[in-house]
Amino acid sequence: MADRSDISGLTLQEKAALGGGADMWRTKAVGDLPAIALVDGPHGVRMPSDTSTMNLDPSGTLPATCFPPAVAVAQTWSPALARRVGEALGAECRHFGVDVLLGPAVNIKRDPRCGRNFEYFSEDPLLTGALGVAWVDGLQSTGVGASLKHFAANNTETDRMRSDSDVDMRTLREIYLRAFQRIVEHARPWTVMCSYNRINGVPAAENHWLLTEVLRGEWGFDGVVVSDWGAVSDRPSATAAGLDLEMPGSGGLTDADLVAAVESGAVSAADVDRAAARVARLVRRASAGEKPGVAYDADAHHALAREVAAQAIVLLQNEGDLLPLGAEKIAVLGEFAQSPVYQGGGSSHVVPSALDIPLEEIRRRAGSSEVTYAPGFSTTHEDDGPALREDAARQAADADVAVVFLGVPSGAESEGWDREHIDLPAPQLDLLRAVAQVQPRVVAVLSHGGVVRSGTVAELAPAVVDGALLGQAGGGALADVLFGRVNPSGRLAETVPQRLSDAPSYLNFPGESRRVRYGERVFVGYRGYDAAERAVAFPFGHGLSYTTFEYHDIDVRLAADTLAVGLTVTNTGPRQGREVVQVYAGLEGSRVSRPPRWLVGFGEVILEPGESLRCTIDVGLDELAYWNVDIDAWTVEEGEYTISVGASSRDLRLTTSVPVAPDLGVQDSAPPVTLQSTLGEALAHPRVGPALVDAMQRLGGDGMPNAEAMGTDLLRMMAQVPLDRMVAFSGGAVTREALQALLQDS
Ligand code: BGC
Repeated sequence: MADRSDISGLTLQEKAALGGGADMWRTKAVGDLPAIALVDGPHGVRMPSDTSTMNLDPSGTLPATCFPPAVAVAQTWSPALARRVGEALGAECRHFGVDVLLGPAVNIKRDPRCGRNFEYFSEDPLLTGALGVAWVDGLQSTGVGASLKHFAANNTETDRMRSDSDVDMRTLREIYLRAFQRIVEHARPWTVMCSYNRINGVPAAENHWLLTEVLRGEWGFDGVVVSDWGAVSDRPSATAAGLDLEMPGSGGLTDADLVAAVESGAVSAADVDRAAARVARLVRRASAGEKPGVAYDADAHHALAREVAAQAIVLLQNEGDLLPLGAEKIAVLGEFAQSPVYQGGGSSHVVPSALDIPLEEIRRRAGSSEVTYAPGFSTTHEDDGPALREDAARQAADADVAVVFLGVPSGAESEGWDREHIDLPAPQLDLLRAVAQVQPRVVAVLSHGGVVRSGTVAELAPAVVDGALLGQAGGGALADVLFGRVNPSGRLAETVPQRLSDAPSYLNFPGESRRVRYGERVFVGYRGYDAAERAVAFPFGHGLSYTTFEYHDIDVRLAADTLAVGLTVTNTGPRQGREVVQVYAGLEGSRVSRPPRWLVGFGEVILEPGESLRCTIDVGLDELAYWNVDIDAWTVEEGEYTISVGASSRDLRLTTSVPVAPDLGVQDSAPPVTLQSTLGEALAHPRVGPALVDAMQRLGGDGMPNAEAMGTDLLRMMAQVPLDRMVAFSGGAVTREALQALLQDS
């Protein structure tokens, strides 16, 4: 096969032209290379009717399936469903002639206020990464490329084009780069989109360490790095750092900058060649599969959107088994029952090909049961509140059950800015109070992108159904769950705090003076709530069912680089259901500060009533690793790890432990001992320690501290002293040379 990255016939000018877009959404045709289209994404194709326009205005966008946004896909905890969504998106891309879909967005939900949380999967890197791998696999199996975004540490919308993410290396590796790494290594996305922000002072677009050393050097990325739209302020320096394609196009201005930089020697021709070759390869790869105009099955995609939405719905609470609804008189209340909130604002906003209205879907499912409706509040005419509320309460009193639709109104959550609070609007809570006063059987249905404070809702409504944002078929999916046609099995992918100020990142968000300090370090989401033993409204991983499950007989078997976690799950309730089983690990006494537990694996079982199944969840030993800043590498620390399986991070049903020792083939790298190591570190080292004790005992009289004579308090104080300072403390009796010899010999 011809070399796809061949650019031998191109001039410097043509190579530079290849790396700058032609317009808003297309690359330039250069030589025999055609233009290709890169279009938003991620949860539907936002195909502009004219590729030269920004098309933020829906009137310039062609209708396509609005699948559930990432917030909901994550709540399914189902890589299989994420893959099917990717495949369906690929089919729509082929239809529209889109070569690269701008997604998935895999930034970690660091703070509940981030305006784009609805576009992101989770606060947990494993869940995010596993779903991202499946989504990219699905999309790319259709011959359409993914664009993994926004690389990296882009977790705030405030001042997003200038802000500097100040994040320590361990946190960056363990939390913010981890999902990117997994997806690059396992799904090989065709492109990665660098973010707008700086990372520790260096803009992502010009970050050689990030784009070249880590992404390509360590993870083996072989695709194109494309800029986020408008992220490049210095094209030559971005090219030298490893950026290949600037989008949108600058009308050729920055192509000329790049040519001038090569001519002046500021940028090497080899850098431009490398970038051009990568873009050429992308273009040839994409053109091989291009078949614009291929039809897709819109009804089948709507049905898939509904299936995913139904699996994403989380039953937060169901006191007295109020749900599912039966043959009863139902008062449906709340404006969102008729005007659903189903996606967020910004570049991901899709013009849906169809839209399910929850009220209509409830009526359809209710059959001959009577269903009444009242809006209860108005997002546009707040003054009408009292009258609307009164009417709604009257209907609630008159019915057997009230289903109240509440949430964050459209337009209140978007890319480009962060929320200031996570409260539901007061008129909605007033409605809920009024309804709860007259009707004890209340079901609240929540729609929102980022989390909302739902404590008050859970106090007033015995049953709470959390839909997050469900895409165009969410109305049907909600009806399916409310009536029990689908047994709910979604799980939270983000902790719901009792109050915003409980969030671990609370005081460090959104930063100031263009600097965002990631001060909570690795303690993001449940890692932080659990470490601080803080009560939460609903924990990470939580979600109920209309049936019940019991877990028994955990065992953990060790193979070369895998822990096989086995358990039996039994459906002890009355219905068939899907159970998402979560595996958490912990290590007491770790040498670094770690959360009490972190997610290391998950899986699902679907069981008939009374059925039991033995299942195994494989956990890669690297899930136990931490980023060791002393040696700049992942380290699996030796020790007795706690392994728990459960139904949420706070509902651990079975726990065991497993010893992990270096002889299991895991590289446990205790930091090497140098003259800058402390006496304590040297003493703890398996080889240096005994040699040092020996030397201390021999040389005690000559200025070297004598371990026995010092007593534990003094020894503890001296443990902090770096080895080379022993020269001064011993008045020169211990020399640097003697210490060096000791380190060498041991
Ligand atoms: C967003 C990206 C998006 C791009 C193109 C940017 O503002 O951050 O997610 O893909 O615009 O619309």
